[in-house]
Amino acid sequence: MSTPETVTAPAPVRTAQHRRYLMCRPEHFTVSYKINPWMEPAKPTDTANAVAQWQKLYDLYLELGHEVELIEPLAGYPDMVYTANGGFLIDGRAYVPKFRFEQRAGEAPAFADWFRDHDLDTIEPDEVNEGEGDFLLVGNTILAGTGFRSTGDSHREVGEVFGREVVSLNLVDPRFYHLDTAIAVLDPVEGVENGGPEKANIAYLPGAFDDASRAILEERYPDAILVSDEDGSVFGLNSASDGYNVIISPRAKGFEKQLRERGYNPITVDLSELLLGGGGIKCCTLELRGAK
Ligand code: ARG
Repeated sequence: MSTPETVTAPAPVRTAQHRRYLMCRPEHFTVSYKINPWMEPAKPTDTANAVAQWQKLYDLYLELGHEVELIEPLAGYPDMVYTANGGFLIDGRAYVPKFRFEQRAGEAPAFADWFRDHDLDTIEPDEVNEGEGDFLLVGNTILAGTGFRSTGDSHREVGEVFGREVVSLNLVDPRFYHLDTAIAVLDPVEGVENGGPEKANIAYLPGAFDDASRAILEERYPDAILVSDEDGSVFGLNSASDGYNVIISPRAKGFEKQLRERGYNPITVDLSELLLGGGGIKCCTLELRGAK
């Protein structure tokens, strides 16, 4: 009798979806204070290198056919390049952030003004929240992180603002202080597409969450890609996906392979300079969902 062969299901065919992003050129980037474990104010930074690395990400988005809007960088706000923290948008409505640390507080009105100037319905927050750093839209559900930055009360508020289900997740490792450092949304759209077996899917770093949150993720996303500590520690998950192309750090070798096996197209962009501020690809990218 011949040995049965292992039949591997073919990777589903994936389609890139059009994206509209908001970015901020890191003209004033430096590390002058410490609000996360990655930041070392004593270590020198190279602003020109930050701008050059950021430009590659910007150019790549355009090459992939996405639209990128820019917000004017403000002097004195070196973290403004991390536009993911500048808001959370669904259906052309923008929920404004309220930063945890006063060093970044002045960014919030700048983002709010930008939203208003672009005719977006702009909602001012009561609760501390750091935008898409801690809120991720997966299908119709908002995954919301807490533990370091956005509060549990902001989870309730974001649910009220958008009328969607919110799933709260507790972050426990200070290196992964925002949800977008521990979860990557791979296919934002709900439903089985192109004959693929998966629904809106994610990749995550199990060790970044407490047991209860990990159990929720396991139950909701049985097909999720589980990323290794090694790849998580180089901010491999802080990536941007359009449903096919997934922009990731060149250091996340294992994640790159996992993505390829699932039919995604990983593309690497090195933002090592911006990692000195504790941010990566996703941090530099705010999705303008439904914006005109
Ligand atoms: N230095 C910034 C901070 O600590 C980095 C923000 C990273 N942004 C993100 N979406 N994870 O606030």
